[in-house]
Amino acid sequence: MRPRRLRRTETLRRMVREHHLQVEDLIYPLFVMDGVGQREEVPSMPGCYRYTLDLLLPEVQQAYQLGIGAIALFPLIPHHQKDNAGTESYNPNGLIPRTVRAIKQAVPDILVITDVALDPYSSEGHDGIVQDGQILNDETVAVLVKQALVQAEAGADFVAPSDMMDGRVGAIRQALDAQGWINVGILAYSAKYASAYYGPFRDALDSAPKFGDKKTYQMDAANAKEAIKEVDLDIAEGADMVMVKPALAYLDIICRIKHHTNLPVAAYNVSGEYAMIKAAAAQGWIDEKKVILETLTSMKRAGADLILTYFAKDVALMLK
Ligand code: PBG
Repeated sequence: MRPRRLRRTETLRRMVREHHLQVEDLIYPLFVMDGVGQREEVPSMPGCYRYTLDLLLPEVQQAYQLGIGAIALFPLIPHHQKDNAGTESYNPNGLIPRTVRAIKQAVPDILVITDVALDPYSSEGHDGIVQDGQILNDETVAVLVKQALVQAEAGADFVAPSDMMDGRVGAIRQALDAQGWINVGILAYSAKYASAYYGPFRDALDSAPKFGDKKTYQMDAANAKEAIKEVDLDIAEGADMVMVKPALAYLDIICRIKHHTNLPVAAYNVSGEYAMIKAAAAQGWIDEKKVILETLTSMKRAGADLILTYFAKDVALMLK
């Protein structure tokens, strides 16, 4: 055998290539903030911005024109609107519902995915209601349900619970169905790890925990079988798609879950993964474009059907 025979020319390599990164795979996460005419670069995510709604719309339009089919929205909430119960998260006229309505008007065909979690709205910076230093589960789920309903009402195509409370997928599914939102899907952050790779995202939204960490609800980095357990629960509760997050340090988890379920599997190429590539590229230490393509291709190879990535627009351009 001479395996090199199949590597001789680019044409041949293309023909025997096993996995392909496509623009259809990409979901573009976007940060939105209140105000008009402003965009602020996230310091730890060069090339990534928080946009006011008027400037977000052209960004969404551009993404759609590049072939990107979906965006995932995250809000920057001002301090005076934050409280322990995340009340602003289910304000029907809050930033996210207003943003969803505007996008659905301006770019009706792009899929809008909204984040269901309290952390951007929480004065404690946690994904749930805090009492005596504990994160309350069922009380939080009740708020998440209200949040998901407000997002569905605004026109979200998918709601994406990223909070890791137990039982939230089932509670959200039941409530959506009861209100007639049978076609609003659930993209469940099923295997979401307590990760240091989320640092830059918390800078972007000013959402870092005010005390402790998220280890009582997000998963331990050392666990793999537990990811399968979480996926099974979310599927039983009604998830339409499941997610692994972060992606790069968890390719084995993506692979296991892909083999375990027939549902589409999404991987989140998170903020810290983005920042590492940007930082090394800025030093001239790596070839940015090649490393981006290699990194995202590794997620496809591991089994990801969909990839959430801040590089979505860059990749769409590279693939053209
Ligand atoms: C929180 C949430 C986080 C991210 C998405 N949703 C951060 C966290 O759990 O603290 C991180 C995304 C990224 O790092 O790019 N509900």
